[in-house]
Amino acid sequence: MADNGQNEAFEPEITVFTCIYCGYMSADTAGALRLQYPPNIKLIRLPCTGKTDVHYILKAFEEGADGVYVVGCPIGNCHHVRGNERGKARVERAKKLLDEIGLGGERLEMFFVSGGMGATFARYAEEMTERIRKLGPNPLKNGRSPRPEREEK
Ligand code: FES
Repeated sequence: MADNGQNEAFEPEITVFTCIYCGYMSADTAGALRLQYPPNIKLIRLPCTGKTDVHYILKAFEEGADGVYVVGCPIGNCHHVRGNERGKARVERAKKLLDEIGLGGERLEMFFVSGGMGATFARYAEEMTERIRKLGPNPLKNGRSPRPEREEK
């Protein structure tokens, strides 16, 4: 049950950026093992999480995602050498921006998995869905401001 105090039936929409190597393979492994995970996530494949752009992340929120996370290869095992480190830095930068604009950096996360880690992929999907359920809907939905309105004096 949601405890965001806004909508008991709230089901978050979560955009997940994965690299086409370990990130996507872990999702594939979860599927092959018939592991259950919430249907709230929508996968978008990138050649590498190094292609993650702060603009893509902000755009996902602007288009109504309640949460976003990025799944890449383990640090040291990126197929593009250090792409996942660049992706991590961009996620950190985007988290700060989300805090600054009042949307909340906790709506964004990055995870590192190897291709065989289907159970871990499913667990992250569960954890993020639960986290975002507690945070409530993206305040940008329905044209709401992420910051509470100031009272006029
Ligand atoms: Fe997977 Fe770079 S190829 S994170």
